[in-house]
Amino acid sequence: MTQKQAKLILDEKNQIDLPIIEGTEGEKAIDIGKLRSSSGFITFDPGLLNTGSCFSQITFIDGEKGILRYRGYPIEQLAGKKNFLETTLLLSRSELPSSQELKEFIALMDQFQELPKSLEILVDNFPRNGHPMALLGAVVSFLAGLNPQYAKKTITEVKDQEFVLAQLMSYLKLVLGRFYRTTQGLSLEGMKQISNENYAGSFLTSFYQNNNTSILSKEAFEALDILLVLHADHEQNCSTSAVKFVASSETNVYASMAAGISALWGPLHGGANEKVLQQLELIHNDGGDVKKYIAKAKDKESGFKLMGFGHRVYKNFDPRASIIKGACDSILAKLKVQDPLLTIARQLEEAALNDSYFKERNLYPNVDFYSGIIYKALGIPTSFFTPMFVIGRLPGWFAQWQEQTQDEKRKLVRPRQIYTGKNSRSLK
Ligand code: SDX
Repeated sequence: MTQKQAKLILDEKNQIDLPIIEGTEGEKAIDIGKLRSSSGFITFDPGLLNTGSCFSQITFIDGEKGILRYRGYPIEQLAGKKNFLETTLLLSRSELPSSQELKEFIALMDQFQELPKSLEILVDNFPRNGHPMALLGAVVSFLAGLNPQYAKKTITEVKDQEFVLAQLMSYLKLVLGRFYRTTQGLSLEGMKQISNENYAGSFLTSFYQNNNTSILSKEAFEALDILLVLHADHEQNCSTSAVKFVASSETNVYASMAAGISALWGPLHGGANEKVLQQLELIHNDGGDVKKYIAKAKDKESGFKLMGFGHRVYKNFDPRASIIKGACDSILAKLKVQDPLLTIARQLEEAALNDSYFKERNLYPNVDFYSGIIYKALGIPTSFFTPMFVIGRLPGWFAQWQEQTQDEKRKLVRPRQIYTGKNSRSLK
């Protein structure tokens, strides 16, 4: 079948044909790989809103229809039915694991049920008022020192890659549990030998064993598992792109993951979940007047954004937000938690969705809008919300990084620019 071409007319004398490529879900793109060499032109797309950076078979989003699928499975069929480790292996290996394969991966993770002394010392010496996202970035870079055999180059053997993933998933969980306990002045007893078999449960146990054990329930484990599955991957978002752009220089996997953590920290991206809770508390403490804050969000001068609202891709509802919102009531009821912030969140959503400013701009609640309410019900401090996003997104970053390492055509990322500075001038 002849490849379709797009005709780019640059002026009366110059026009070029550019190949049109189409994805398995019918998305179309113009391949501009030869644009500069054949015309001297580049394209200009700050923020890359209209630019595809790669082919990928991992996750598919249809922003207009509110569709999210991992390896073809709709998120609605995975969350609450397949657990976070099954989802991790689906993303990484492209198929759901057999029970034997899952058992083997858990056994690999269970080699890392205790932090090495050097990492315990790093966590214990991290400033108590330091943000846990800074700690996670430090720990991931530290692991490059702990695993020099995996830090000197891009590892391509799947068994080495899965060793690194298993260690990261288990250690980052233990690091957050240890830092939570030390910052809350809680005993460290009860953190040893917790199997990763129920990963969400082992996460909460790392926080609360021998402390606030009332949270350690099947319902709490299931609630966190759903949140982790919902956060697991999301195409070429800011932090996943950071992971892959850094990896394109053929540096090590730890450098790439540390870049992902840094990018996710920002309030426009993964840092939004922490800001949402702070915003809901601000509104609650200010008497709950949601209309006042809707007005502020519409006033450009205010610099105030409704955190947890809007999305680069979803111009309809974020299917993850719908699942979390739907789960909120039942999870809070099971956890026997009454949270006035949930009422405020609902009123805020209602007011925004009926306001022309938000409707005209297709601004809907995103994954961050309700997730913090559940994290709070699980006793997780607000500053740990974005680290929870890291824990959830790690498998997605990893699968996307693996896919790139397997691409023989991968290239160093080096965008062009349009220079608008001074023309040549002389010092004399
Ligand atoms: C995540 O990419 C991913 O997939 C990310 C993520 C993932 O899973 O990896 O889904 C996770 O990061 C979700 C997003 C979390 N961020 C927030 O909740 C922060 C608040 N949201 C905004 O900052 C904003 O909506 C973005 C950054 C998320 C998206 O912004 P865009 O696509 O760059 O759009 P824009 O900023 O150009 O906004 C378009 C218009 C502007 O108004 P006009 O200039 O047209 O008049 O909408 C307005 C914006 O001012 N707008 C908002 C708003 N978001 C956009 N106005 C008030 N409140 C908001 N939240």
